Amino acid sequence: MVEVLVTGGAGFIGSNFVRHALSAHPDWRITTLDKLTYAGRLENLKEVLDDPRHQFVRGDITDAAVARSLVARSNLVVHFAAETHVDRSILGAGDFIHTYVFGTFVLLEAAREAPGLRRFIQISTDEVYGTVTTGASRETDELKPRNPHAASKAGADRLAYSYFATYGVPVIITRASNNYGPYQFPEKVIPLFVTNAIDGQAVPLYGDGLNVRDWLHVADHCRALDVVIERGEPGEVYNVGGGNEVANLDLTRRILAALNRSEDLIRPVADRPGHDRRYCLDTTKLGGLGWRPQIDFAAGLGETISWYRQNEWWWRPIKQGDPAFQAYYSRQYEGR
Ligand code: NAD
Ligand code: DAU
Repeated sequence: MVEVLVTGGAGFIGSNFVRHALSAHPDWRITTLDKLTYAGRLENLKEVLDDPRHQFVRGDITDAAVARSLVARSNLVVHFAAETHVDRSILGAGDFIHTYVFGTFVLLEAAREAPGLRRFIQISTDEVYGTVTTGASRETDELKPRNPHAASKAGADRLAYSYFATYGVPVIITRASNNYGPYQFPEKVIPLFVTNAIDGQAVPLYGDGLNVRDWLHVADHCRALDVVIERGEPGEVYNVGGGNEVANLDLTRRILAALNRSEDLIRPVADRPGHDRRYCLDTTKLGGLGWRPQIDFAAGLGETISWYRQNEWWWRPIKQGDPAFQAYYSRQYEGR
């Protein structure tokens, strides 16, 4: 059996990856380590909680004892755990830096001592390149993060590389573009706008709505990680982009049209400070390992919208029953 540790596996991408991996790799035994922050939810793993090849451990990656004991028995670490919402990092960056920079350091220290570790996959992001004026970011481009979340990711990205260069830890770094799909926390733009629109509520569009993101279906991301784990080279960075550049206004219109809602629901609000105008990834390097995104954006967005329509049990308790979410929403959007 291959012993796999997935950090942050109760979050959006992590839970999709755990489900995918258990089905795609019968010889993998997975331990999910997750602190269950506001964004980590056991419901995301409901299909695999009783799977004998899966174990859930509630714990913090910054806890060296926990990290050491779990990393020591692993052949593969896939490190997703992080604070992930840019707007929250603008409200306060401390948790971002603690979790992602210090937490990654704790995991890497544990990895140095792990006898059977074959790969340590550091899940970074396209945001580390900063805003992209023309063309597409390549793995060798300078990192120019422009918000505290992105800067914490860049710090951990380079820290992970340093553990490869200095100690030979078999680190591979991936930098993915904006993911979408089921189980994404309804603070991010697609699930927020879809669930607001379902309820006939306004959708708060930042600035002029012309910022561009490159959308990647989470299932394509999971398949990319398989390719990187099997064929990637330690010490290397791989961009994972969906090839779907869409301006936020266009995205918003598509969501409203799919839900038969009027564009009158669009509420232009003050822009995000430091709002990166555009992300765009060159994925030639990962293409060379045989990966291509398979999910057409229009189809993937339609399926995602249907998922939120059919799974109100999942998001209504967050949006309507969780005072912490309501407090965040008021702080972020009221009077904006
Ligand atoms: P998410 O916010 O949905 O999930 C993060 C998970 O990490 C949660 O389950 C949370 O409980 C857990 N976590 C947080 N702090 C922890 C700690 N100290 N110890 C253990 N667990 C902890 O995030 P996501 O969107 O699934 O993103 C996962 C990873 O992928 C992140 O590293 C993120 O930066 C990266 N990424 C995300 C995107 C995207 O579009 N969502 C794109 C590129 C890269
Ligand atoms: O690009 C990868 C990054 O994608 C990841 O590193 C981050 O963890 C992830 O959260 C995501 O960051 P973004 O800031 O791009 O995602 P978000 O969904 O917050 O915003 C997408 C775009 O939508 C962005 O241009 C801001 C805009 N937006 C967002 C929200 C929440 C709005 O116009 N209104 C909103 O209410």
